[in-house]
Amino acid sequence: MQPVKTSEIDNKIRFVSHEIRNHISVCDMYSQIIKKYLEKDGYKNPSVLNALNCISQSLQIISMNVTDLKSVNVNEPVEIDFKTSAEKSVELSKAYVEDKDIEFDVFIKNTVKIKIDENRFMSCIVNIIKNAIESIEIRGKISVIGEVRDNCAVLKISNNGKPVPIDKQNKIFDCGYTSKQSGSGYGLYICKKYLNSQNADIELVKSNKNETTFKITVSL
Ligand SMILES: Nc1ncnc2c1ncn2[C@@H]1O[C@H](COP(=O)(O)OP(=O)(O)OP(=O)(O)O)[C@@H](O)[C@H]1O
Ligand SMILES: [Mg+2]
Repeated sequence: MQPVKTSEIDNKIRFVSHEIRNHISVCDMYSQIIKKYLEKDGYKNPSVLNALNCISQSLQIISMNVTDLKSVNVNEPVEIDFKTSAEKSVELSKAYVEDKDIEFDVFIKNTVKIKIDENRFMSCIVNIIKNAIESIEIRGKISVIGEVRDNCAVLKISNNGKPVPIDKQNKIFDCGYTSKQSGSGYGLYICKKYLNSQNADIELVKSNKNETTFKITVSL
């Protein structure tokens, strides 16, 4: 087989990004139209409105990733509210619960403005909560506790699902490490990379049969 030329890959990235962008716009436009009609008809179901907001937010994250693919992402991080973004991320990740019985306990004690790319920050939290959901077989609990202290905004995400074996705990941030049949092993690697590029970090605090906890620290 002939090796694929760099220019061919470049073109392919450009064309695929273009098509993805077109369809992001279609989904975004129609979800806004649905929202407008629901508001006009006085439909006030908060779960439906929350779902539409989550779709818009996810489309923004997809869009950021497509821009990254073209290496022209020049978005300067703007100041965002720590508590609001953390709470929005929890809502986004609930899409992965499906038919499991998972109790969410979310408590963000205080807040602060943080200078970080919001889409990247949110996609890290979504990755961690998605893993937490996947570690719970049928029934369990996920807690998201936030606090601002000592010049840092700290978010701890815990679950009581199946733990990470002790001999694997130093491998989980490696690119491609996965213990799942359909996993790619990119989630935690991307989280660490995104956060480290923005004055922030993520670590596994503990993982045992009672609890697994990840901690995100954003320096102020
Ligand atoms: N909350 C958790 N509880 C138990 N194990 C976890 C947890 N989070 C991560 N892991 C372990 O770390 C591994 C790497 O996680 P990572 O998110 O990087 O990849 P993945 O979930 O396997 O695949 P994907 O690329 O789809 O995210 C997982 O396969 C799992 O073994
Ligand atoms: Mg994952």
